[in-house]
Amino acid sequence: MKNDMVLAGGKIVDPATGYFGPATVFISDGKIEKVEKRKKSKIAGGNVIKLDGKIICPGFIDMHVHLREPGDEDEETIISGSEAAAAGGFTSIACMPNTKPPLDDAGAIEYVNNRALLAPVKVYPVGAVTVGQKGDTLTEMMEMSACGAVAFSDDGSGVQNNDMMRRALEYSKTCGVPVISHCEYSDLTASGVMHEGFISSKLGMKGIPAIAEELMVMREIMLASLTGARVHIAHVSTAGSVDLIRKAKKSKVPVTAEVTPHHFSMTDELINSFDTNLKVNPPLRTKNDVDAVIKGLADGAIDCVASDHAPHSIEDKELEFDYAPFGLIGLETALGLVITKLINEKILTWVEVVDRMSAAPARILDIPGGILNEGEPADITVIDPELEWIVNPNDFKSLSRNTPFAGWQLKGKAVMTIVDGNIVYSLI
Ligand code: DOR
Repeated sequence: MKNDMVLAGGKIVDPATGYFGPATVFISDGKIEKVEKRKKSKIAGGNVIKLDGKIICPGFIDMHVHLREPGDEDEETIISGSEAAAAGGFTSIACMPNTKPPLDDAGAIEYVNNRALLAPVKVYPVGAVTVGQKGDTLTEMMEMSACGAVAFSDDGSGVQNNDMMRRALEYSKTCGVPVISHCEYSDLTASGVMHEGFISSKLGMKGIPAIAEELMVMREIMLASLTGARVHIAHVSTAGSVDLIRKAKKSKVPVTAEVTPHHFSMTDELINSFDTNLKVNPPLRTKNDVDAVIKGLADGAIDCVASDHAPHSIEDKELEFDYAPFGLIGLETALGLVITKLINEKILTWVEVVDRMSAAPARILDIPGGILNEGEPADITVIDPELEWIVNPNDFKSLSRNTPFAGWQLKGKAVMTIVDGNIVYSLI
């Protein structure tokens, strides 16, 4: 059989077997044809890509991305966000429904699917839990799921009504997909702009207390336990949430969770600078919380890393801290932060990182990925672990620039992204 492409000379990471070592990957017809786990393989010509010193991983999956189409295409489109994903080493992304209008019916899910046909990476839409994300009426989940919605979420705000969340879980269970919960009781966070604590008191800013998140995490755990439905906790930010999730998992409650790179790499102390790119929801928390989410990622209480890529225009972010919108972009910095803060600091191994960024999100959303087996789609991320780079937002493929990481020095970067056997991004 003809080999379309051979990745030679690198090391592969295979979370299924725990193998991290030399291998040659043969790709044919958009699929993985063969993986030879040894230093040198016999290669009969063809398109050989030499990857000495590089690490070959199952393609990374970001299960929490905001594309601003429809509605705010100046901030991000399905195509520009997908290009940013490819540049960040992601081969698949799931996009949240808080667009204008929200993705709350089958037509909207089909719209994303159609636009995504031209995208360089795979785009999986998440449907809204309630109509217009207003919290009043459940959406037609069955119809959206039949059109390809991989999960349901009212992300951007929490589902405030307990009965609504219970029914949402019952329906999503029938659809076989999880509800992704943005845990926030809005009566507890009203007009807060940053974490409630010492720094918010010092700066005289209205705080968002940890309890606003933790109370809803507790509700989701109890409702998942009652209904048997799968609930996924988005952007976990507090030590208390990590504890609740860890305990729930011990009791076999079907709960999973994610943490963002900004929540494991920054604290609320940085807000002394009043940089509105640090304004995010949930807010940056304390050192104790950062330590807890990192520990949770290491011991499995937290399943995966997701960027919560949330583009906003320069004009919006130039408003005063109180008035600027919540959110920062993360697709093009997520992997560099994971390698720099978690691998290089010896918190996670490569095998664990590939689990947290590829296998786990694939499992949670029940989509292909996370594995380098024969016959699987050739979705692959190639990393240069030694590449040192400085974050420069002007280099981003994203249409937005709202990153607090500009100027950060990172070590480790995706240098090639392959989707269905096609190179969609390459620095090689
Ligand atoms: O900071 C955030 N921005 N948190 C969210 O939950 C929503 C997101 C957005 O859509 O901008």
